[in-house]
Amino acid sequence: MRVYTSNAEISAFIATEKHASFSLGFVPTMGALHAGHLSLVKAALAENTLVVVSVFVNPTQFDNPSDLTNYPRTLTKDIQLLETLSKTRVIVYAPTVSDVYGAETIATHFDFGGLESQMEGKFRMGHFDGVGTIVKRLFEIVKPDTAYFGEKDFQQLQIIKKMVEITQLTVTIVGCPIAREPNGFAMSSRNSRLSSEELEASDLIYKTLLSVKDKFNSESPEYIQQWVSAQFSNHPLFELEYFQISESKTLEPIQQKNQTKTYRAFIAVFARDVRLIDNIALN
Ligand code: PAJ
Repeated sequence: MRVYTSNAEISAFIATEKHASFSLGFVPTMGALHAGHLSLVKAALAENTLVVVSVFVNPTQFDNPSDLTNYPRTLTKDIQLLETLSKTRVIVYAPTVSDVYGAETIATHFDFGGLESQMEGKFRMGHFDGVGTIVKRLFEIVKPDTAYFGEKDFQQLQIIKKMVEITQLTVTIVGCPIAREPNGFAMSSRNSRLSSEELEASDLIYKTLLSVKDKFNSESPEYIQQWVSAQFSNHPLFELEYFQISESKTLEPIQQKNQTKTYRAFIAVFARDVRLIDNIALN
């Protein structure tokens, strides 16, 4: 498998591969790959000649230094996992911080039209400026035709679509469904930091979202909000950071249900210092 650590080398390789019927898929990741990431790579392989997977823990999107330090880094295992999908059609780009950022590791400020002020943006200061900065930079280096993102990070997916619109980059953004553990818990690189007791109890998060979907037809948003808070109040393992029902496009919190709009429920929960997020379509 080809593994590049420098932007000059990967750009040169991609340039030699391009021909008339060639299409390049791209899956940006922070590594510690799991079946959720692999589902994105499979979707990209099904639609493209070659697929670049970037593995880069992006410092500018972490608001919490200990989360950045503790983020799992497993490049050798990541490469082995990707090789099970294709040794020839998948290429890894695992750059250093200076290779992508140059001398200054700083994020650019973006105006995402309000998408950035909700949920993750409220609780993780500067997070989406960091995400927008790195994904734009990676798009400039890799120059993909299509890039694949998980609905696991639904707000991020909407923000990337907005970033492409603002910057007028010529890349198509595809959203892919959330891959879940057998108990329904959304797969995440951070899950490897959970204890076996926490993992076992983690089905509460998805079960709560399923009940919310059930209640959404008959109950008011205020009632559902209180009901979710009650599920987590005094829980021995999990602390609720936020629960929000939002309109899917704008991510604005729901005021009154409007039959012409689609809604999603979003949740963020702490297990000690490990932060877990999930979401579900409600209608
Ligand atoms: P990371 O958390 O590694 O996720 C990389 C991609 O995998 C994202 O598009 C994410 O939504 C998707 N993903 C993660 N878990 C998933 C699951 N259970 N099911 C489906 N897709 C899943 O998201 C990032 O990295 C970074 O913010 C990044 C975009 C790479 C920028 O640094």
